Amino acid sequence: MRKILWITALIVTLSACQNDTKQQPKEEAGKAQKTKAATPDFDHKAYKMKGMIIAKNTFKVFKSNIQAVASKEGLPGVVNFCHDNAKKLADSLGKVHNVVIKRTSHKLRNGKNEPDPGSKAVLEDYLKLQENHTSMEPVVKKGADGYVHFYAPIKLKKECLKCHGTPGKEIPEGIYKLIKTKYPNDEATGFKEGDLRGIWDIKFLDMADK
Ligand code: HEC
Repeated sequence: MRKILWITALIVTLSACQNDTKQQPKEEAGKAQKTKAATPDFDHKAYKMKGMIIAKNTFKVFKSNIQAVASKEGLPGVVNFCHDNAKKLADSLGKVHNVVIKRTSHKLRNGKNEPDPGSKAVLEDYLKLQENHTSMEPVVKKGADGYVHFYAPIKLKKECLKCHGTPGKEIPEGIYKLIKTKYPNDEATGFKEGDLRGIWDIKFLDMADK
């Protein structure tokens, strides 16, 4: 008899746990509906996830290419590589994901990476957050072009200082000279580790109402 009571108690306890977990999806669904009501036309969360994965993947591909060039041709080789291939690489990765991948900045090296009004607004917001020492989160929004865009901050890391730090200090003189011959209007120096260097702007081509 005791044994039966124990078993019954165990079943009641277990099913109570199950009920808890069963209720969770309902709450989740409620939350999802609320988000949907605020943004009826597209799923922010899904685009944010996709954008984060694409940005991370693009950075990885850039990094592995740069490391390969650096080991053979040193820093000058990397400058030349970036000059000749940065856009091509971003474009080909974009095609794989059906997006347009751009890196832009408030302090540009290559004028062709100029921010459009949507990116400019995001850059300005991030710069304000930087001033206030507040963290910067990725942003998803529909641009004036009708496409969904994913934006995320690009922070300067230690290894970037060799080409984006202070000329003569972190940037060797010879490298700065080479950068200046390739980019006479270069503004992308004087950064410190942790500074906002620029942003990712990933435009999703799968959804637009123009
Ligand atoms: C060997 C030199 C070198 C290093 C190291 C380097 N960059 Fe650059 N960076 C460049 C060059 C050259 C360009 C211009 C590429 C082009 O023509 O689009 C550039 C462009 C950029 C841009 C595009 C916006 C613009 O100003 O045109 C961003 C963003 C950027 N770099 C971030 C970084 C970050 C972050 C790191 C470190 C993880 C880094 N860079 C390391 C040379 C370098």
